[in-house]
Amino acid sequence: MPHMLKQVLGSVLTPEETAQVYSAFDQIGDIVIIKIPDELMPKKKLIADAILANVKTAKAVFAQVSPVRGDFRVRDLEFIAGENRTVTEYKEHGCRFKVDVAKTYFSPRLSTERQRIADMVGDNETIINMFAGVGTYSVVIAKANKTCKVYSIDSNSAASELDGINAKLNKVQDRVVTICGDAAEVIKDRLAGRADRVLMPLPERAKEFVDSAVLALKEKGIVHYFAHIKADSKKAGQELGLQDAHDAFAKYDHQVLAIRVIREVGPRIYQIVADVLVSSRHH
Ligand SMILES: C[S@@+](CC[C@H](N)C(=O)[O-])C[C@H]1O[C@@H](n2cnc3c(N)ncnc32)[C@H](O)[C@@H]1O
Repeated sequence: MPHMLKQVLGSVLTPEETAQVYSAFDQIGDIVIIKIPDELMPKKKLIADAILANVKTAKAVFAQVSPVRGDFRVRDLEFIAGENRTVTEYKEHGCRFKVDVAKTYFSPRLSTERQRIADMVGDNETIINMFAGVGTYSVVIAKANKTCKVYSIDSNSAASELDGINAKLNKVQDRVVTICGDAAEVIKDRLAGRADRVLMPLPERAKEFVDSAVLALKEKGIVHYFAHIKADSKKAGQELGLQDAHDAFAKYDHQVLAIRVIREVGPRIYQIVADVLVSSRHH
Protein backbone atom coordinates (compact mmCIF):
# COMPACT_ATOMS: atom_id res chain seq x y z
CA MET A 1 0.00 0.00 0.00
CA PRO A 2 1.43 3.41 -0.91
CA HIS A 3 2.96 5.30 2.00
CA MET A 4 0.84 8.30 1.07
CA LEU A 5 -2.28 6.31 1.91
CA LYS A 6 -1.08 5.92 5.47
CA GLN A 7 -1.09 9.69 5.68
CA VAL A 8 -4.51 9.94 4.08
CA LEU A 9 -5.98 7.37 6.47
CA GLY A 10 -4.28 9.33 9.23
CA SER A 11 -6.53 12.26 8.41
CA VAL A 12 -9.70 10.20 9.02
CA LEU A 13 -8.45 7.66 11.61
CA THR A 14 -6.34 7.65 14.77
CA PRO A 15 -2.77 6.29 14.47
CA GLU A 16 -3.84 2.98 16.07
CA GLU A 17 -6.80 2.66 13.70
CA THR A 18 -4.59 3.46 10.73
CA ALA A 19 -2.16 0.71 11.72
CA GLN A 20 -5.00 -1.83 11.94
CA VAL A 21 -6.24 -1.12 8.43
CA TYR A 22 -2.75 -0.67 7.05
CA SER A 23 -1.61 -4.17 7.99
CA ALA A 24 -4.46 -5.93 6.18
CA PHE A 25 -4.71 -4.76 2.61
CA ASP A 26 -4.80 -6.86 -0.56
CA GLN A 27 -5.03 -5.48 -4.06
CA ILE A 28 -6.03 -7.96 -6.78
CA GLY A 29 -6.11 -6.23 -10.15
CA ASP A 30 -8.22 -3.13 -9.61
CA ILE A 31 -10.07 -4.52 -6.57
CA VAL A 32 -8.92 -3.71 -3.04
CA ILE A 33 -9.87 -5.98 -0.15
CA ILE A 34 -9.38 -4.75 3.40
CA LYS A 35 -10.13 -6.14 6.81
CA ILE A 36 -11.91 -3.57 8.95
CA PRO A 37 -12.18 -4.24 12.67
CA ASP A 38 -15.82 -4.12 13.95
CA GLU A 39 -15.30 -0.88 15.83
CA LEU A 40 -14.11 0.82 12.63
CA MET A 41 -17.02 -0.36 10.45
CA PRO A 42 -18.86 2.97 10.93
CA LYS A 43 -15.90 4.60 9.19
CA LYS A 44 -15.75 2.09 6.32
CA LYS A 45 -16.93 4.53 3.66
CA LEU A 46 -14.38 7.15 4.73
CA ILE A 47 -11.63 4.53 4.56
CA ALA A 48 -12.73 3.18 1.16
CA ASP A 49 -13.03 6.65 -0.33
CA ALA A 50 -9.55 7.53 0.93
CA ILE A 51 -8.22 4.40 -0.80
CA LEU A 52 -10.02 5.11 -4.09
CA ALA A 53 -8.79 8.69 -4.07
CA ASN A 54 -5.18 7.69 -3.54
CA VAL A 55 -4.58 4.33 -5.18
CA LYS A 56 -4.91 5.24 -8.84
CA THR A 57 -5.22 1.60 -9.95
CA ALA A 58 -8.05 0.81 -7.50
CA LYS A 59 -11.61 0.84 -8.87
CA ALA A 60 -13.50 -0.99 -6.11
CA VAL A 61 -13.12 -1.55 -2.37
CA PHE A 62 -14.54 -4.52 -0.45
CA ALA A 63 -14.34 -5.47 3.21
CA GLN A 64 -13.47 -9.07 4.05
CA VAL A 65 -16.20 -10.10 6.51
CA SER A 66 -15.36 -13.77 7.09
CA PRO A 67 -12.14 -15.74 7.20
CA VAL A 68 -11.12 -17.73 4.12
CA ARG A 69 -13.17 -20.88 4.68
CA GLY A 70 -14.82 -24.05 3.37
CA ASP A 71 -13.54 -26.50 0.79
CA PHE A 72 -13.34 -23.80 -1.87
CA ARG A 73 -11.27 -21.50 0.40
CA VAL A 74 -13.33 -18.37 -0.31
CA ARG A 75 -14.16 -15.42 1.93
CA ASP A 76 -17.32 -13.36 2.31
CA LEU A 77 -16.99 -9.83 0.99
CA GLU A 78 -19.03 -6.70 1.60
CA PHE A 79 -19.01 -4.04 -1.08
CA ILE A 80 -18.08 -0.59 0.23
CA ALA A 81 -17.24 1.80 -2.59
CA GLY A 82 -16.36 2.23 -6.27
CA GLU A 83 -17.60 -0.24 -8.90
CA ASN A 84 -19.71 -3.06 -7.49
CA ARG A 85 -18.10 -6.03 -9.25
CA THR A 86 -15.92 -8.92 -8.09
CA VAL A 87 -14.30 -9.95 -11.38
CA THR A 88 -10.96 -8.41 -12.25
CA GLU A 89 -7.76 -9.12 -14.12
CA TYR A 90 -4.46 -9.63 -12.35
CA LYS A 91 -0.99 -9.68 -13.92
CA GLU A 92 1.96 -11.71 -12.64
CA HIS A 93 5.21 -13.02 -14.21
CA GLY A 94 4.04 -11.90 -17.66
CA CYS A 95 0.78 -13.86 -17.25
CA ARG A 96 -2.78 -12.51 -17.04
CA PHE A 97 -5.41 -13.98 -14.75
CA LYS A 98 -9.13 -13.41 -14.73
CA VAL A 99 -10.19 -13.77 -11.09
CA ASP A 100 -13.52 -13.64 -9.30
CA VAL A 101 -12.55 -12.56 -5.79
CA ALA A 102 -15.96 -13.60 -4.38
CA LYS A 103 -16.29 -17.06 -5.94
CA THR A 104 -12.70 -18.30 -6.04
CA TYR A 105 -9.58 -18.37 -3.92
CA PHE A 106 -6.82 -16.06 -5.00
CA SER A 107 -3.78 -14.64 -3.23
CA PRO A 108 -1.26 -12.26 -4.75
CA ARG A 109 1.05 -13.18 -1.87
CA LEU A 110 2.08 -16.50 -3.44
CA SER A 111 3.69 -14.99 -6.50
CA THR A 112 7.29 -15.76 -5.44
CA GLU A 113 6.39 -19.37 -4.71
CA ARG A 114 4.75 -19.80 -8.12
CA GLN A 115 7.92 -18.59 -9.83
CA ARG A 116 10.13 -20.77 -7.61
CA ILE A 117 8.27 -23.92 -8.62
CA ALA A 118 8.07 -22.89 -12.29
CA ASP A 119 11.88 -22.49 -12.32
CA MET A 120 12.34 -26.08 -11.10
CA VAL A 121 10.33 -27.70 -13.89
CA GLY A 122 12.40 -29.74 -16.34
CA ASP A 123 11.70 -30.42 -20.01
CA ASN A 124 8.82 -32.71 -20.96
CA GLU A 125 7.52 -33.04 -17.41
CA THR A 126 3.96 -34.06 -16.70
CA ILE A 127 2.64 -32.06 -13.76
CA ILE A 128 -0.53 -32.54 -11.75
CA ASN A 129 -1.81 -29.51 -9.84
CA MET A 130 -4.34 -31.04 -7.43
CA PHE A 131 -5.79 -27.77 -6.11
CA ALA A 132 -5.41 -25.39 -9.02
CA GLY A 133 -7.86 -22.58 -8.21
CA VAL A 134 -8.06 -20.23 -11.20
CA GLY A 135 -4.92 -21.86 -12.61
CA THR A 136 -2.24 -19.59 -11.19
CA TYR A 137 0.53 -22.16 -10.68
CA SER A 138 -0.55 -24.16 -13.75
CA VAL A 139 -0.39 -21.20 -16.12
CA VAL A 140 2.85 -19.72 -14.71
CA ILE A 141 4.50 -23.15 -15.05
CA ALA A 142 3.17 -23.85 -18.57
CA LYS A 143 4.24 -20.41 -19.73
CA ALA A 144 7.75 -20.80 -18.24
CA ASN A 145 8.40 -24.18 -19.83
CA LYS A 146 7.04 -24.81 -23.32
CA THR A 147 7.51 -28.59 -23.19
CA CYS A 148 5.64 -29.50 -20.03
CA LYS A 149 2.03 -30.59 -19.68
CA VAL A 150 -0.11 -29.65 -16.67
CA TYR A 151 -3.28 -31.35 -15.42
CA SER A 152 -5.05 -28.62 -13.49
CA ILE A 153 -7.72 -29.90 -11.07
CA ASP A 154 -10.18 -28.01 -8.87
CA SER A 155 -13.50 -29.04 -7.33
CA ASN A 156 -14.91 -25.49 -7.45
CA SER A 157 -16.61 -25.14 -10.86
CA ALA A 158 -16.23 -21.33 -10.82
CA ALA A 159 -12.47 -21.69 -10.29
CA SER A 160 -12.14 -24.44 -12.88
CA GLU A 161 -14.00 -22.41 -15.48
CA LEU A 162 -11.65 -19.45 -14.89
CA ASP A 163 -8.68 -21.83 -15.08
CA GLY A 164 -9.76 -22.77 -18.61
CA ILE A 165 -10.23 -19.10 -19.52
CA ASN A 166 -6.82 -18.20 -18.07
CA ALA A 167 -5.07 -21.00 -19.98
CA LYS A 168 -6.52 -19.51 -23.20
CA LEU A 169 -5.71 -15.90 -22.19
CA ASN A 170 -2.07 -16.95 -21.82
CA LYS A 171 -2.07 -19.20 -24.90
CA VAL A 172 -1.15 -22.37 -23.00
CA GLN A 173 -4.51 -24.13 -23.43
CA ASP A 174 -2.89 -26.88 -25.50
CA ARG A 175 -0.73 -27.88 -22.49
CA VAL A 176 -2.97 -27.06 -19.53
CA VAL A 177 -5.76 -29.60 -19.17
CA THR A 178 -8.47 -28.21 -16.89
CA ILE A 179 -10.43 -30.77 -14.88
CA CYS A 180 -13.29 -29.94 -12.50
CA GLY A 181 -13.59 -32.53 -9.75
CA ASP A 182 -12.27 -33.93 -6.51
CA ALA A 183 -8.50 -34.38 -6.91
CA ALA A 184 -8.45 -37.78 -5.18
CA GLU A 185 -11.22 -39.12 -7.46
CA VAL A 186 -9.73 -37.66 -10.63
CA ILE A 187 -6.30 -39.14 -9.90
CA LYS A 188 -7.72 -42.56 -9.01
CA ASP A 189 -9.91 -42.65 -12.14
CA ARG A 190 -7.58 -41.30 -14.79
CA LEU A 191 -4.20 -39.96 -13.68
CA ALA A 192 -2.50 -42.68 -11.59
CA GLY A 193 1.21 -43.11 -12.35
CA ARG A 194 1.33 -40.15 -14.74
CA ALA A 195 3.17 -37.32 -12.99
CA ASP A 196 6.79 -36.27 -12.63
CA ARG A 197 5.64 -33.56 -10.24
CA VAL A 198 2.53 -33.01 -8.12
CA LEU A 199 1.47 -29.72 -6.52
CA MET A 200 -0.67 -29.73 -3.36
CA PRO A 201 -1.49 -26.07 -2.67
CA LEU A 202 -4.24 -26.73 -0.09
CA PRO A 203 -2.22 -26.27 3.11
CA GLU A 204 -5.16 -26.79 5.48
CA ARG A 205 -5.82 -30.32 4.20
CA ALA A 206 -2.87 -31.45 2.07
CA LYS A 207 -1.99 -34.24 4.48
CA GLU A 208 -5.30 -36.02 3.78
CA PHE A 209 -4.39 -36.17 0.09
CA VAL A 210 -0.80 -37.45 0.33
CA ASP A 211 -1.76 -40.98 -0.77
CA SER A 212 -3.47 -39.53 -3.85
CA ALA A 213 -0.45 -37.37 -4.64
CA VAL A 214 1.86 -40.39 -4.44
CA LEU A 215 -0.58 -42.47 -6.51
CA ALA A 216 -0.36 -39.78 -9.21
CA LEU A 217 3.44 -40.05 -9.43
CA LYS A 218 5.48 -42.13 -11.83
CA GLU A 219 7.87 -44.53 -10.09
CA LYS A 220 9.76 -41.53 -8.78
CA GLY A 221 8.75 -37.91 -8.62
CA ILE A 222 8.49 -34.71 -6.65
CA VAL A 223 5.57 -33.58 -4.52
CA HIS A 224 5.29 -29.95 -3.46
CA TYR A 225 3.59 -30.39 -0.12
CA PHE A 226 2.03 -27.29 1.49
CA ALA A 227 1.05 -27.10 5.16
CA HIS A 228 0.14 -24.70 7.93
CA ILE A 229 2.39 -25.02 10.96
CA LYS A 230 1.90 -23.57 14.42
CA ALA A 231 5.17 -22.21 15.73
CA ASP A 232 6.61 -19.40 17.83
CA SER A 233 9.02 -18.16 15.19
CA LYS A 234 9.78 -18.51 11.51
CA LYS A 235 12.81 -20.65 12.32
CA ALA A 236 10.74 -22.97 14.50
CA GLY A 237 8.12 -23.06 11.73
CA GLN A 238 10.75 -24.33 9.33
CA GLU A 239 11.94 -27.05 11.73
CA LEU A 240 8.40 -28.18 12.61
CA GLY A 241 7.46 -28.00 8.94
CA LEU A 242 10.27 -30.39 8.08
CA GLN A 243 9.01 -32.79 10.73
CA ASP A 244 5.44 -32.45 9.46
CA ALA A 245 6.54 -33.27 5.90
CA HIS A 246 8.44 -36.37 7.09
CA ASP A 247 5.36 -37.48 9.05
CA ALA A 248 3.07 -36.95 6.07
CA PHE A 249 5.23 -39.14 3.80
CA ALA A 250 6.40 -41.58 6.51
CA LYS A 251 5.10 -44.70 4.79
CA TYR A 252 6.87 -43.95 1.51
CA ASP A 253 10.54 -43.94 0.53
CA HIS A 254 11.08 -40.22 0.51
CA GLN A 255 13.57 -37.44 0.88
CA VAL A 256 12.78 -33.82 1.73
CA LEU A 257 14.87 -31.88 -0.79
CA ALA A 258 13.95 -28.43 0.48
CA ILE A 259 11.72 -26.76 3.02
CA ARG A 260 10.66 -23.14 2.89
CA VAL A 261 8.51 -20.87 5.02
CA ILE A 262 6.32 -18.99 2.53
CA ARG A 263 4.60 -16.51 4.86
CA GLU A 264 2.93 -15.99 8.20
CA VAL A 265 -0.81 -16.54 7.65
CA GLY A 266 -1.99 -15.72 11.17
CA PRO A 267 -0.54 -15.10 14.60
CA ARG A 268 2.13 -17.81 14.98
CA ILE A 269 0.85 -19.82 12.01
CA TYR A 270 3.25 -20.28 9.11
CA GLN A 271 2.60 -21.59 5.65
CA ILE A 272 5.39 -23.89 4.57
CA VAL A 273 6.20 -25.80 1.41
CA ALA A 274 8.32 -28.94 1.29
CA ASP A 275 9.75 -30.34 -1.95
CA VAL A 276 9.56 -34.09 -1.36
CA LEU A 277 11.20 -36.65 -3.62
CA VAL A 278 9.10 -39.81 -3.40
CA SER A 279 9.63 -43.28 -4.67
CA SER A 280 6.12 -44.70 -5.09
CA ARG A 281 7.13 -48.36 -5.39
CA HIS A 282 5.81 -49.14 -1.91
CA HIS A 283 2.12 -48.27 -2.14
C1 LIG B 1 -5.85 -22.52 -1.25
S1 LIG B 1 -6.66 -22.67 -2.81
C2 LIG B 1 -5.26 -22.63 -3.92
C3 LIG B 1 -5.61 -22.22 -5.32
C4 LIG B 1 -4.42 -21.95 -6.25
N1 LIG B 1 -3.48 -23.04 -6.28
C5 LIG B 1 -3.73 -20.66 -5.90
O1 LIG B 1 -2.70 -20.69 -5.24
O2 LIG B 1 -4.22 -19.60 -6.30
C6 LIG B 1 -7.15 -24.37 -2.78
C7 LIG B 1 -8.07 -24.80 -3.92
O3 LIG B 1 -8.36 -26.21 -3.74
C8 LIG B 1 -9.69 -26.45 -4.17
N2 LIG B 1 -10.11 -27.73 -3.55
C9 LIG B 1 -10.49 -27.98 -2.27
N3 LIG B 1 -10.73 -29.29 -2.09
C10 LIG B 1 -10.49 -29.91 -3.28
C11 LIG B 1 -10.54 -31.25 -3.73
N4 LIG B 1 -10.89 -32.25 -2.90
N5 LIG B 1 -10.21 -31.53 -5.00
C12 LIG B 1 -9.86 -30.53 -5.85
N6 LIG B 1 -9.80 -29.22 -5.49
C13 LIG B 1 -10.10 -28.91 -4.22
C14 LIG B 1 -10.46 -25.23 -3.74
O4 LIG B 1 -11.63 -25.04 -4.51
C15 LIG B 1 -9.42 -24.10 -3.95
O5 LIG B 1 -9.58 -23.48 -5.22
